[in-house]
Amino acid sequence: MSARRYVVATEDEIPPGARKIVTIERREIGIFNVDGEYFALRNRCPHQGAALCEGHVLPALESSGPGDQRLASGRLLQCPWHGWEFDVRSGQSWCEPDRMRVRAYPVGVVDAGEASGFPGLVPGPHVAETYPVRVEARRVVVDLGG
Ligand code: FES
Repeated sequence: MSARRYVVATEDEIPPGARKIVTIERREIGIFNVDGEYFALRNRCPHQGAALCEGHVLPALESSGPGDQRLASGRLLQCPWHGWEFDVRSGQSWCEPDRMRVRAYPVGVVDAGEASGFPGLVPGPHVAETYPVRVEARRVVVDLGG
């Protein structure tokens, strides 16, 4: 089978924080530049088919443990239809709002140092389709596989 690698842009066309949506082999694919790294996702939400790559790109809150929180620039792609969030790097969804309930916990005041752990994210059931992207001779290239 012939190579299925496609030049989709020059580096200048997709600077950090930007995206470009292209059509390759009748598939719409969004290419995102996150802090100089490129990622490609199918422009179709695995939930109900919205144009996922047209959604807002949001910062992700990262933490290595209690007392450590920082915002990582644009890593979460929010679907424009129902707001589910997908990791731009892996296509992994990070919420399942129609099945999840927020649990309430009692709150009290404790002495400093007794604070409890920091809750982590739970992976959702959906994963958006992703493709490898690399830069060759200052051209952004998407690889659809051989
Ligand atoms: S179609 Fe994307 S979250 Fe529903």
